[in-house]
Amino acid sequence: MARRLLCGVTVIISVTLNPAVDQTAWVDRLEPGSVHRVRETHIDPAGKGINVSRMAHRLGWPTLAFGFLAGDVGNIVRKALEQEGVPAHFVPVPGQTRINVTVVEGPGTATSFYGPGPAAPAEALASLEGLVRFWLQAGRVLVLAGSLPSGVPPDVYARLTRAAGERGVKVFLDADGEPLRLGLAAGPSLIKPNVAEAERLLGRSLPDEVAILAAARELVGRGVETVIISMGGRGAVCAQAARAWRIHPPDVKRLSTVGSGDAMVAGLAVALARGEDLVRGLALGTAAGAATAMSEGTALGTADDVAALLPRVRIEQMS
Ligand SMILES: Nc1ncnc2c1ncn2[C@@H]1O[C@H](COP(=O)(O)OP(=O)(O)OP(=O)(O)O)[C@@H](O)[C@H]1O
Ligand SMILES: [Mg+2]
Repeated sequence: MARRLLCGVTVIISVTLNPAVDQTAWVDRLEPGSVHRVRETHIDPAGKGINVSRMAHRLGWPTLAFGFLAGDVGNIVRKALEQEGVPAHFVPVPGQTRINVTVVEGPGTATSFYGPGPAAPAEALASLEGLVRFWLQAGRVLVLAGSLPSGVPPDVYARLTRAAGERGVKVFLDADGEPLRLGLAAGPSLIKPNVAEAERLLGRSLPDEVAILAAARELVGRGVETVIISMGGRGAVCAQAARAWRIHPPDVKRLSTVGSGDAMVAGLAVALARGEDLVRGLALGTAAGAATAMSEGTALGTADDVAALLPRVRIEQMS
């Protein structure tokens, strides 16, 4: 039924189990122990999968955002998605969705405070998993992104990855720690850790690009088709079984890179859903990441910025 309702359109489905409202405050100087006059403040819906859906929507591809929301803070996220026109279905859980506070000092040094988020009861998780499994019939890509709230077992991404695999839906997994480690074993199509996440996953430091590329290749060897390790303003490396690439983003005026990785995952998912090849996906993802880096606070890049940056992305195939 889901497939018929969507007339064959293949949707990017995102799952955000631990969303947030991001509050960004701009101050001249951050001094611990003192009262600050805030120059400006913003409130944005946040959460990694939510960001992926918002960016996919901006890039013009149908998307559905799933996850948990709680209380009045959760309603801020619901309304913001509604205003942006991003279709979403969030299962209510008790308590309040967390508020993440980011203080931006002077020209752009960000200090963030992330709460744990409300716990998700077993019944809420069962109904969310049921919904996602149902909508997988309309899906092309399932994006599993971000941390887990308490009450959710660490193998949830692994279970959803297997369910998607059974229906021929590609899984992009963007997580950290145990949920990433267990999810990886279930064979997602793509993972996109940043360097710190890749270091935690492999249990060793990755001091330079040679080590980062070797790490990406090693992770491909664990059964993931595409591994991208992102390096912030330095770009990313990408490895598949037989090929590897070094991706150089355009030089942009960096305001805040919060959400750049999510924007990159969205660009990759949109390119795949359009039927484009990986290199075009890397370019679109990199342009979306750079567009987000040049946007203030937790704001994502605009479609116009992504289009303007796309021709400036450089991708080198490596031997
Ligand atoms: N300062 C920057 N200038 C240009 N491009 C950038 C910049 N920062 C990030 N990007 C682009 O975005 C991609 C992802 O960024 P990054 O490595 O910071 O992801 P991340 O740590 O997963 O971010 P998050 O999880 O907060 O969304 C990079 O590979 C790069 O292409
Ligand atoms: Mg990230």
